[in-house]
Amino acid sequence: MKTRITEMLEIKYPIIQGGMAWVAEHHLAAAVSEAGGLGLIGGANAPGEAVRDEIRKARVLTEKPIGVNVMLLSPHAEDVAKVVVEEGIKVVTTGAGNPEKYMDMWKSAGIRVIPVVASVALARRMEKYGADAVVAEGMESGGHIGEQTTMTLVPQIADVVSIPVIAAGGIGDGRGIAAAFMLGAEAVQMGTRFVVADESIVHENYKERIIKAKDIDSAVTGRTHGHPVRCLRNQMTREYTRLEQEGKSFEELEYLTLGTLRKAVQEGDVTGGTVMAGQIAGMVSRRQSCKEMIEEMMGEASRLMHWDLCTAGQHI
Ligand SMILES: Cc1cc2nc3c(=O)[nH]c(=O)nc-3n(C[C@H](O)[C@H](O)[C@H](O)COP(=O)(O)O)c2cc1C
Repeated sequence: MKTRITEMLEIKYPIIQGGMAWVAEHHLAAAVSEAGGLGLIGGANAPGEAVRDEIRKARVLTEKPIGVNVMLLSPHAEDVAKVVVEEGIKVVTTGAGNPEKYMDMWKSAGIRVIPVVASVALARRMEKYGADAVVAEGMESGGHIGEQTTMTLVPQIADVVSIPVIAAGGIGDGRGIAAAFMLGAEAVQMGTRFVVADESIVHENYKERIIKAKDIDSAVTGRTHGHPVRCLRNQMTREYTRLEQEGKSFEELEYLTLGTLRKAVQEGDVTGGTVMAGQIAGMVSRRQSCKEMIEEMMGEASRLMHWDLCTAGQHI
């Protein structure tokens, strides 16, 4: 299956593993890349040297391309932006802002820049500033979200930009991939399903919580202050919502969640920790290796799309 994205990123399958904070470290990224997708290392709030270390460890595990997600609001964003150049990374996705400031440096290093966007306006703007593609992320996603759904956002962005669109949010199997392609996407980015992969270092309690989740088990916190985050309901989300309804300030609420994603991911505290996951958690029911997941999904998507028989629209 060839699209502009598989060609651009030199990957076999049009599947990207989201750069998830604390989750997307070298084992997961390398396993996804080895399986033919694109694995990303999540820069999150980590210092540049920690990201460098992760990149190098991933390279021991795979010779295939890996990418890095640069979280632009991180206090270390500037350092991480330089590290990806120094380490010869070929693809960067960016979250939480506008990567304009780093565009010249990255482009002259031959890096493909793919911002994550949650609106048509931002997608247009990113294209204008030289982005190579965009990830259109709907509010079904785990983690920080926008307001539009994947179903509405992907076609609206695909209609107005000429760079390729990668769909994210609520995609968890071959049907989701086929649907995303029907909406105009040329690849998908998935987070929640990869959290439970065998190669993911996430604590077993976290994986189990996702596997047991039902369709309505996620909640969005932080809407009142314009920083919505989707995670699975637990004591933490209930406490957050209570304080939010009491009108607590953004700073007070931030303090409540400080370090709680790490606590859930590494220590398995799925009660008081933050269990970021998307709505598709309700459908994620099995632990598998990344290779099994990717091949199963691509097989299903190919059958649905008759990819062996036809060449769809804009795809190469
Ligand atoms: C635990 C978790 C942490 C995440 N952290 C980040 C992050 O640091 N940066 C980012 O751009 N996206 C982050 N995301 C979003 C993913 O990269 C991806 O776009 C999203 O999970 C796709 O939606 P899905 O969960 O429905 O598959 C995170 C998602 C999850 C589940």
